Amino acid sequence: MSIYYCKPVFRPPSEAYSLLIQLTEGCTFKCDFCMSNLRKQFVVREVEAVKKDLDIAKKQYGQNVKRVFFLDGNAMVTPFNKLLEVTKYANYIFPNLERVSVYAHAKDILKKTDDQLKALSEAGLNLAYIGFESGYDKLLEDVNKHATKKDYIDASMKLFKANITLSATLINGLGGANNNEVSKKHAIESADLVNKICPEDDRIWYIAFLSLMTPQGTEIFKRKSKGEFREMNSIEILQELKLFIENIEFQNDNAYCVFRSNHASNYLPIKGILARDKDKIISTINYGLNNPEILRPAFYRGL
Ligand SMILES: C[S@@+](CC[C@H](N)C(=O)[O-])C[C@H]1O[C@@H](n2cnc3c(N)ncnc32)[C@H](O)[C@@H]1O
Ligand code: SF4
Repeated sequence: MSIYYCKPVFRPPSEAYSLLIQLTEGCTFKCDFCMSNLRKQFVVREVEAVKKDLDIAKKQYGQNVKRVFFLDGNAMVTPFNKLLEVTKYANYIFPNLERVSVYAHAKDILKKTDDQLKALSEAGLNLAYIGFESGYDKLLEDVNKHATKKDYIDASMKLFKANITLSATLINGLGGANNNEVSKKHAIESADLVNKICPEDDRIWYIAFLSLMTPQGTEIFKRKSKGEFREMNSIEILQELKLFIENIEFQNDNAYCVFRSNHASNYLPIKGILARDKDKIISTINYGLNNPEILRPAFYRGL
């Protein structure tokens, strides 16, 4: 007996060593840059089938599983009762479980009530990965994200209130090259979004920047093939990131926002704590801008 997977599966890099369980297949959205639903019909699997996979995992790995990630692109869309039941079951059969996490579109969070999110959190679902991509509404519309900056603010507040850790990603270069005005607004509005969601306490939360890739089959790939979209180069990407960092201003000096731009898609690995390490991060970016030979070559980048 083996655990069921509908491949390719979609998980964050930080869940590489987690037990991956297929709760949903594909995604209910179709953003222009994303591969998550290209080859899959969206499915929420039956609770009994998911529990069976958890049982198989227990036989394979024993009870020392510490992390479970429920696949796929937006498993938070799973109806509340089902999500609660599989989360509880995972915690029941793995007594040492520290974390259950999912990908969530902002709308999936907004559709759940505060009480439902709290119940999920208390049952052990304690981390949600949201793709903000940008805080600039026009750009979000252009890439068919079906979410606005306000949705991200509201969804983040709901997660914080429920005590579910937020891990959000943004995409450098999303507006493409030859679009200086869009790039500026993308950077400034994204920083404003991150400033606005900053919690008042010292809880940990995560913001990461990926750099745009144009995978085959996506709408953005098609636009690129027709010459309607041109990717930013590494220098333009770093300038955009620098403008984002320059505009980060938290009211709360105790904020603990882990910032990462060290994904395989990025040209320069950067890590730090926002806004505490702002100057250090800007120095790292300047170093990359002044020494382009140290940047990851475009053909080594990946998702
Ligand atoms: C599999 S998606 C899940 C996110 C979640 N469904 C949402 O929309 O909020 C994970 C994230 O990978 C990033 N991503 C997806 N395609 C990308 C691409 N072509 N280039 C760069 N980043 C990409 C986006 O930040 C996206 O939100
Ligand atoms: S970015 Fe998220 S919502 Fe959009 S298609 Fe990918 S997985 Fe789905």
